[in-house]
Amino acid sequence: MTLYASLLFLHLLAATFWVGGMACMHFAVRPSAVARLDPPQRLPFMTAALGRFFDGVTAAIVVILVTGLAMVFGRGGFGAAHWSVHAMFTLGLVMMAVFGHIRWAAYPRLQRAVASSEWKAAAPALDGIRRLVAVNLGLGVAVYGIATIGRVL
Ligand code: HEM
Repeated sequence: MTLYASLLFLHLLAATFWVGGMACMHFAVRPSAVARLDPPQRLPFMTAALGRFFDGVTAAIVVILVTGLAMVFGRGGFGAAHWSVHAMFTLGLVMMAVFGHIRWAAYPRLQRAVASSEWKAAAPALDGIRRLVAVNLGLGVAVYGIATIGRVL
């Protein structure tokens, strides 16, 4: 019981870091950077901030997967799991695939454009990342709803 509660604690900590971090980037950091900084300052700043955040998300994903699967298999496997856990797992995998695309396809494009001071290429690359982060933020909120409200339905 204590083990299960500890796994749930770590699971929620990691999920909160990921979803809360996306909300902070989307609603606070990026709009402030747009309002206060010109492209030659804003684009390197956002690239650095996103790089640090993405390292944290990579670690959070490992924790979410390990703790989530440990809870599932500690309670009899997927066959015994509530539909809300199946939905959480499926949407969680979709979120991870979207993150993988951001981190290993879209973000390197942004890094290359910023490294060569090509602001006209960097701006759309950053905008593409903003859209994908917004998609994952929406999915993350849906997963929270499914995990908490869905489990009693
Ligand atoms: C992708 C693999 C994932 C697996 C295998 C998984 C599995 C689980 C399991 C087994 C529980 C415990 C359910 C219970 O005790 O009733 C749980 C709880 C929870 N998970 Fe996940 N999860 C995953 C991803 C995620 C993601 C991506 C998020 C958020 C974005 C998330 C948010 C939550 C929340 C909020 C709870 C608490 C539900 C509650 O106790 O009321 N999970 N998860």
